[in-house]
Amino acid sequence: MKVPEIFQDIARSRRVTRQFLPTPLSEHQLNRVLLDAQHSPSNCNTQPWQVHVVSGATRERLSSALLAADDRQHFTPDFEFDMAAYTGVFAERAQASGRARYEAIDIGREDHAARAACLRHNLTFFDAPHVALLFMPKISDYVRSAGDIGMYAQTFLLSLQARGLGGIPQTLLGMYAETVREVLGVSEELKLMFGISFGHADPHSASNFVDVGRVALQDSVVRHS
Ligand SMILES: Cc1cc2nc3c(=O)[nH]c(=O)nc-3n(C[C@H](O)[C@H](O)[C@H](O)COP(=O)(O)O)c2cc1C
Repeated sequence: MKVPEIFQDIARSRRVTRQFLPTPLSEHQLNRVLLDAQHSPSNCNTQPWQVHVVSGATRERLSSALLAADDRQHFTPDFEFDMAAYTGVFAERAQASGRARYEAIDIGREDHAARAACLRHNLTFFDAPHVALLFMPKISDYVRSAGDIGMYAQTFLLSLQARGLGGIPQTLLGMYAETVREVLGVSEELKLMFGISFGHADPHSASNFVDVGRVALQDSVVRHS
C-alpha cells in the first residue's frame, strides 16, 4: 500500500510567515483551524491552553499599546528569555538562522536601524489580520503545561499550512504580557507564553521564503535497539 505523503509535505514545507496580506480569514476558516488545534494532546488531557484570538479594532488597539510599551521600554515578561543563555551549538544555530533571515531580505550586519525595524514589525503582527495569544494557568512550575501549549501551537501552525495559510509564533509578544492582559482584560492569573500571528502569506515577500534548515537527524536523535 502506498503511504500518502501529504503530511510529509505539510510538515516539511512549513516556514514562518513574516509578511502577511491584510485579508482576514473567513469565520469558517478560522473555526476550522481552532478546532484542529483543539485536538492537540496534553498531559492527562488537561488542555491548559487559554487562547485569545484578536482581530479587527481590538487588533489595532493591541498593536498601538504594544508599540507604546516598547517606546517606554516597558517589558513585563511572565517568563524570562535571555539570548545569552544560548551557548555552544545553540548560539551557533541562532546566529545562522538570523544570518539567513537577514540575507534573504538584504539587510546587512551593521544596518542596526533596519534590524530594529524588523523587531518592531513583530508588534504590528507582521501585518497579519489576526493574532492568537496563548495563555496558561499556574500549574506546578508551568513546565508541563508549557509543553502542552507547544503541542497546541504546532497543531495550529500545521493546520494553517495544510489550508494554504501562514503563521508565526512570537515569543517577543510575551515580553509585553502585562500590556496584553490589560488590553484584552485577561486575569493576572493567566500567564502569556507567546502569540501566533496568522493569515494569508504575502506571496511576493522574500521574508516568507527563508529556509533556515535543520541539523542532521543524528545530531538530535539517538537510536537504541
Ligand atoms: C516558540 C517560538 C517563538 C518564536 N518567536 C519568534 C519571535 O518572537 N519573532 C520572530 O520573528 N520569530 C519567532 N519565532 C520563529 C523562529 O525564529 C523560527 O521558527 C525558526 O527560525 C525556524 O524557522 P521556520 O519555522 O521557518 O522553519 C519563534 C518560533 C517559536 C517556535
